[in-house]
Amino acid sequence: MFHPKANILLRLLQCRHALCSFGKASCSRLVLGIETSCDDTGAAVLAETGAILGESLHSQKEIHLRTGGIIPPVAQRLHRENIERVVQEALERSGVTPGQLSAVATTVKPGLALSLGVGLEFSQRFVRRHDKPFIPIHHMEAHALTVRMLQPVAFPFLVLLVSGGHSLLAVARGVDDFLLLGHALDEAPGDTLDKVARRLSLIKHPQCSTLNGGQAIELLAKDGDRMRFRFRTPMGQTPDCCFSFAGLRNHITMTIVKKEAEEGVEQGTLLTCVNDIAAATQHTVASHLAKRTHRAILFCKANGLLTSGSPTLVVSGGVASNQYIRKALAIITEATGLRLLCPPAKFCTDNGVMIAWNGVERLREGKGILPPSVDVCYEPKAPLGVDITAEVKAAAIRLPSVRMKIPN
Ligand code: KG4
Ligand code: ZN
Repeated sequence: MFHPKANILLRLLQCRHALCSFGKASCSRLVLGIETSCDDTGAAVLAETGAILGESLHSQKEIHLRTGGIIPPVAQRLHRENIERVVQEALERSGVTPGQLSAVATTVKPGLALSLGVGLEFSQRFVRRHDKPFIPIHHMEAHALTVRMLQPVAFPFLVLLVSGGHSLLAVARGVDDFLLLGHALDEAPGDTLDKVARRLSLIKHPQCSTLNGGQAIELLAKDGDRMRFRFRTPMGQTPDCCFSFAGLRNHITMTIVKKEAEEGVEQGTLLTCVNDIAAATQHTVASHLAKRTHRAILFCKANGLLTSGSPTLVVSGGVASNQYIRKALAIITEATGLRLLCPPAKFCTDNGVMIAWNGVERLREGKGILPPSVDVCYEPKAPLGVDITAEVKAAAIRLPSVRMKIPN
């Protein structure tokens, strides 16, 4: 999308050396990225090389942990209170002035409407004030491509994105070219872990009071027996790559209720078997993710979708920082001959850096860059790429058995 009247864009795209005089990132265009799609207010200034010149992140997690989940108007208020300062900090730390930026990239989809609105409104005012191009960003595309900022990863590659709001498998074929192989049918794995942690009142556990649900379950599972409670891996009879966690959560909740009755304690009291429930929960989530991913790899192989010299699985999103889940996926990639890449935890969760990087990728290819005057709308629901989940299901690929002996 290139606006013919946007002279400023033409100049920037034609002259890659527009900022040669800028010392810290010579000969490199600079992008400011802004993220407000959920509960993190993030901003970062990136050079075209991928160098992070300055960043700032305000996390609302602690507040939402206290209220037992994200309340959208509260998230909106907190974004409003912080966005100006966060962007200012990222700019100051980078030593870059607004005038030196080549573009501003901001998450506009998918996410919480009230949260997306704060980032978009701020960004549109900013680009108009400083006469800068605007690059609207798809949050999941940004998660998927972050790995390319850290190391060379050629298209196409398979990507598993697992967070508090999403669960999907896709083939990344280009900066704006994705094939969706599978998605969440109900809740996302991070949401399940957060809800199980809340139902177990892990916030009262001395080691978990400041951790999110996924982190708390990972920590407690280390000292748990994953075999003591057996939860069935979801969707065993459905040969596709979609995910479902609601049934599993229901099963876990019923187990917790039964244990509370056995131990004669009220809901809200820490059970003596929390470590074992955490271990079984984590194992079943890992096993479900691994099985769907295994089928996606076999589907890609059967259809020649991973043509790069080194076929690769990239795993990202908040849940991807879980080491046990990574080990489960490593068993699958080893069995199928894929390379497994997981960005460090800091780049798996929401931040301004991944949005700025997506802006850099788009700027390099001249894709989706808008003049400052164009009105952009946010989209709370926005699927990733071309949906081929029906074809995947129709292929009905059966999985060979793989021993999931995941070291703790
Ligand atoms: O990507 P993210 O920061 O935000 C979005 O949901 O978009 O992911 C947050 C989610 C939360 O649900 C949290 O419980 C989960 O990621 N999470 C983890 C771990 N760390 C964060 N889940 C499992 N293990 C972890 N270590
Ligand atoms: Zn995210």
